Amino acid sequence: MQVTALVGSRRKNGNTAFISRKILEALRTALPSVETELLFLGDFDIRACTGCEGCQKSWDCIIRDDYAAIVSRIDAADGLILASPTYWYSVTSDMKRFIDRSYSLIQYPVSRREWISKYSGTGKLCVTAAVCEQHDESMMGSTLSLLNDFSRDLGIEAVASVKAIGHFDAGSVGGDSAVMEQAKRAGRLLAERLDSP
Ligand SMILES: Cc1cc2nc3c(=O)[nH]c(=O)nc-3n(C[C@H](O)[C@H](O)[C@H](O)COP(=O)(O)O)c2cc1C
Repeated sequence: MQVTALVGSRRKNGNTAFISRKILEALRTALPSVETELLFLGDFDIRACTGCEGCQKSWDCIIRDDYAAIVSRIDAADGLILASPTYWYSVTSDMKRFIDRSYSLIQYPVSRREWISKYSGTGKLCVTAAVCEQHDESMMGSTLSLLNDFSRDLGIEAVASVKAIGHFDAGSVGGDSAVMEQAKRAGRLLAERLDSP
């Protein structure tokens, strides 16, 4: 079993990383055989999608940068964590570039209204997580719903979501017992689902 966390923040000790590590910790406790890794998307050279449609014949993005390395980690993974802070009501640009480039993971064989995903039917699962500073939940905008819509469209079921509202200082989320409980529960749920035949 392999679970890969893809983190959209560049703050290595920030709130998104803290939550992601907590989910992985709970996962490993419940499922000791699982191998885990945490990747900061900002450490990879992932350029913007150009809309060239070159991927639509091959499942392969024609831009040669680090995006393919992330896809190979997803290929190998049984589970993912998709986690981002809110930047202007949505995911960070690191996460958004990764999501846009993942257009290469879907194809439209019959019409533009129906698509198939490279990962449909693979049984891959994920947990999504989002953090925002403001206490008014509407200020999180589309951050979490975008991650959930993205994973669904890729054919990867989100078994749990973690939402952290009102956190600004790096790592402050660690002192929020309700969010930590959400993260632990998400890790346990992911373990249960990965472990069920
Ligand atoms: C460029 C930028 C834009 C932000 N936009 C929002 C926002 O729209 N709503 C909000 O509540 N917080 C916003 N924040 C605050 C971050 O979501 C918050 O500080 C979060 O805890 C950062 O997560 P991290 O520690 O994982 O990097 C923004 C922060 C930055 C740097």
